[in-house]
Amino acid sequence: MDRVALVTGGNRGLGLEICRQLARRDIRVILSSRDAVAGAQAAEILAREGLRLSVHCLDVSSAADVKLLGERLSDDFGRCDILVNNAGMRLGDADAGILDETGEGLREALAVNLVGAVCVAQTVAPLMVRQAYGRVVNVSSSLAQLATMGNTHAAHRLSKAALNAVTLMLSQALAGSGVLVNSMCPGAQALAAEGSDAPVGWESAADTAIWLATLPKDGPTGGFFRDRRPMAW
Ligand SMILES: NC(=O)c1ccc[n+]([C@@H]2O[C@H](COP(=O)([O-])OP(=O)(O)OC[C@H]3O[C@@H](n4cnc5c(N)ncnc54)[C@H](OP(=O)(O)O)[C@@H]3O)[C@@H](O)[C@H]2O)c1
Repeated sequence: MDRVALVTGGNRGLGLEICRQLARRDIRVILSSRDAVAGAQAAEILAREGLRLSVHCLDVSSAADVKLLGERLSDDFGRCDILVNNAGMRLGDADAGILDETGEGLREALAVNLVGAVCVAQTVAPLMVRQAYGRVVNVSSSLAQLATMGNTHAAHRLSKAALNAVTLMLSQALAGSGVLVNSMCPGAQALAAEGSDAPVGWESAADTAIWLATLPKDGPTGGFFRDRRPMAW
C-alpha cells in the first residue's frame, strides 16, 4: 500500500524540495499550492525529473478550500499518511517589534501559520487515526523559540510560537493512535537557499522534515527539531 503525503505550499522553496524528496521515496505526494498555475508548474519541474505527483489547489487560510481538501482526500486517495504544514507567510518587516506590528500583519500571519495549519491537521487527523498511522510535520522556525525570544519579526515569531503549541497539543490529542506530531526548523541552510530555485541548498534544509515525515513507529512525538536534534521550545 502506497503512503500518501500532503505538502502545503509545495510550489516553491522548501515545500517544493520536500515534495521532491518524498516523491523519490515512492510516496504518493499531493503537492498543494494556493495558486493552481504555480502548482502545475512546480509539478512539471518534478515531472521532468521523472517524479509523478498529484496537484491540489489549497489556500490554507480558506475554509472552503480546506473543506474541498477533505473531500478530495476521501474521494481520490482514501487516506493521508503524512502532512507537512509548510505553507507560511513571508517575513514581514524584519524590524517590526511587538509595539510596531500591525493588527493586519498579525491576523495574516496567524491565519496562515496557525489557523491554516490547525484546520488542515483537523482534516487529515481522522484519516490518520482510522489507519493507525500518521506523521505530521509542522514547519516552524528558531524565531519561535521562547527560550531566545526577541522583539523582532513579531507576526512571524508569534504565529510560529503558536504553531509549536499546536504541535504539543496535537501530539497529546493523538497519543497512542500511531500518529506522531513534531515541529522543525529548516535552519541556516534554508536561509542560504532562500530566493533560489536551485535544489542544492534546499536539499539539506529539507532533511529534518523528511526524517520526521518518515519516522519509524517508535519515533519521537511532541518535539521541536533542527538538524535532527531536539531544540528548546
Ligand atoms: N527560508 C527560511 O530561512 C526559513 C526559516 C525558518 C522557517 N521557514 C519556514 O519554512 C516554510 C517554507 O519557507 P520558504 O522559505 O520555502 O518560504 P517561501 O519561499 O516564502 O514559500 C512559502 C510557501 O507558502 C505558500 N503560502 C503562503 N501563504 C499560503 C496560504 N495562505 N495557503 C497556501 N500556501 C501559502 C507560498 O505560496 P505562494 O508561492 O503562492 O506565495 C509558498 O509556496 C515556511 O513555513 C517558513 O516560515 C523558512
